[in-house]
Parts: sequence; C-alpha cells; structure tokens
Amino acid sequence: MKILAFESSCDETAAAVVEDGRTVLSSVIASSLEEQRLYGGVVPEIASRRHAEYISDVTEQALAQAGVTVADIDAVAVTAAPGLIGALLVGVNYAKSLAYAAGKPLVPVHHLRGHIAANYLAHTELKPPFLCLIVSGGHSHIVAVEDYTHFRVIGRTRDDAAGECFDKAARAMGMPYPGGVALDKLAETGDPTAYKFPRPHVDGSEYDFSFSGLKTAVINLLHHAEQTGEALNHADVCASFRDRVVEMLCTNTMKAADAFGYDTVVLAGGVSANAELRRRMTALCEASGRQLYMPPLSLCGDNAAMIGAQGYYEFMAGNVADTSLNAAPTMPIDKVDW
Ligand code: KG4
Ligand code: ZN
Repeated sequence: MKILAFESSCDETAAAVVEDGRTVLSSVIASSLEEQRLYGGVVPEIASRRHAEYISDVTEQALAQAGVTVADIDAVAVTAAPGLIGALLVGVNYAKSLAYAAGKPLVPVHHLRGHIAANYLAHTELKPPFLCLIVSGGHSHIVAVEDYTHFRVIGRTRDDAAGECFDKAARAMGMPYPGGVALDKLAETGDPTAYKFPRPHVDGSEYDFSFSGLKTAVINLLHHAEQTGEALNHADVCASFRDRVVEMLCTNTMKAADAFGYDTVVLAGGVSANAELRRRMTALCEASGRQLYMPPLSLCGDNAAMIGAQGYYEFMAGNVADTSLNAAPTMPIDKVDW
C-alpha cells in the first residue's frame, strides 16, 4: 500500500511516498529555517506562507522521485496535530483537497506518533510494545507504545521541552536558531564537569521532567559573567548543561523501563539526534541488557516519511477522516480525536 504523506506542523514543508509503513519511496523537505533565523525563532505567519508556496512543488517532487502518479497512491496522510495552527492548516487543507479530488482515503496523523514511527522506517524488525522517549522542540514525553495506535503517557515535561531548553541556552550564548545542534557540537569539545547545574526535581511524579530551572541557571550564569566581565568557556558551559539535560532524560526513561518492565527502548524527535543522549542511552541499555532503537540522524527532525509510516498503521486501524477534518494546535498523543 502506497501512502502520500504531508508534514507542515512547524517550519518544514514535507511530502513523501511510503510503502506499507516501512519503505520510503521518496522524501522531500523544503524549509523556511534560513528565513526564520533572522528572527531568532519560528515566526508562525512566515511558516504558513512558505508552506502555501512550497507544498505543490514538494508534492510533485515526492511523486516524481517515487516514480508514481496520484493514481498509484492508495491513501493520503497528513499531520493534523499538534503544531502551529496556521502551518498545520496549509498541509491539512492541501491533503484534504487532494484526497477528495483523487477519491483516496484521508488519514490524519498525530505529529509525535509520526516521530515514533520514524523508527519503523529504519528498523524493520521493530514492533510494539516498547517504551519511547520522545524529545522534540515542543514536547518531552516518556510513552508506553502498547501497539501501533495505542499509547500511554508515563512521564512528561511540566514546563519547557528539552529542545526548547537547548535552543534557549544556545541563544543566550549567541548561537543561531535552532541552537540545539550547535550547542551539541560545541559540547563535544568541552568539559562536562566544569560547571555545576541544578538537578531539577519534580514533586509528585518520578517520570516527569522540569527543564525551566536548568534553563534559568544557564542564562543567569551567562548574564552574571557578562556583567562582571568574567570569561566563560562556552564549550564547557555547553558540555555541563547538555550533561544535566541528558542525565534527566536518561534517568527517568530507564526508571520507567524498569518499573513497567520494558526491554525495548526507543528514542524519537529532533533531540534524539543529540550525540550525548545517543551515547548515554546506548551505554545504559547495553548495561541493562535492553535493546535500543534510535532513528538515523536523517529521520530525527521533521519529515513526511515518518507521517507516511504512522499513516499506514492508522489506516490499518481504521482511523480515517472525512472532508470535515480540522487541524488542532494541541492534542494528547494517547487521545487523538479528529
Ligand atoms: O522534532 P523536531 O524536529 O521538531 C519539533 O517537532 O519540535 O525538533 C526540533 C528540536 C529543536 O529544538 C532542535 O534544537 C532540537 O530538536 N535538536 C537538537 C539536536 N538536533 C535538533 N537538540 C539537541 N541536540 C541536537 N543534536
Ligand atoms: Zn517534530
């Protein structure tokens, strides 16, 4: 079964053709990131406008690269939540019109479910159940993936997402948006023991995260140094900060894997590209005899292939929509409601 999939929840306009949820026939991404950098973050209005401009071209390229036409497609999948509402609406309306005109089923996909499904494309043997740490620019969740379309949230961030926290710390050090990647790279050359950052504790849930205290601590350190003229070693700041964020992510994930008896752990989302997170989780899973799956770097960030992968399983579960489908800026991963 061939699915034509769309992703437009943030600043990537993406289309892909995916076969049977596992094989990428094509994956095309256009991004407004360079333009967004001028503003230090994603301006929703700009993202929506660029989606409107790029989406037809991206679709034509995805079909051509897969060597198919719309007639060969069996269903149309699209990210319908969560994300920037104006950005989502461009993808949803485009997918809806295309599905209607071509007489194909329309499959709405939850963006975070898509991030998890990126792993199905790279690891054909991977099947639920497993425990997943989803870390992106807007979300940080520990989720029990009970089957392809049933999820249970075990832990979540109480404030900032991990990616947001990386981006804000990076911005305070003058790195361009999104700074997570640059911070990770500079951290590779720094000493993670040079600066002591707090270990935020969350009352009431041992699996929830809190990153805002850590973010404030790094910003205070940088501002204080600026005011007093003290020279900080940014590589050491990055390494120490990254170490704390990764430690929190890994500790809670492994605690949840122990408590809920999961021997397969999966990483997903943009932050799963983080070098230290990948190293640390590899070591922890090896030491505890667990199988770890991570998306290849090319599938960590936003793309439409992952939406095509999840779209296949949603279609198989009967989760299709009609032309009244709307987009939603927020929606829990475990309770999708189209
Ligand atoms: O999943 P994603 O592409 O978009 C959302 O759905 O939010 O995640 C983007 C986030 C950004 O915050 C970006 O800085 C972060 O992922 N990110 C990283 C790395 N690569 C991307 N954070 C830390 N280390 C990285 N290597
Ligand atoms: Zn994403």
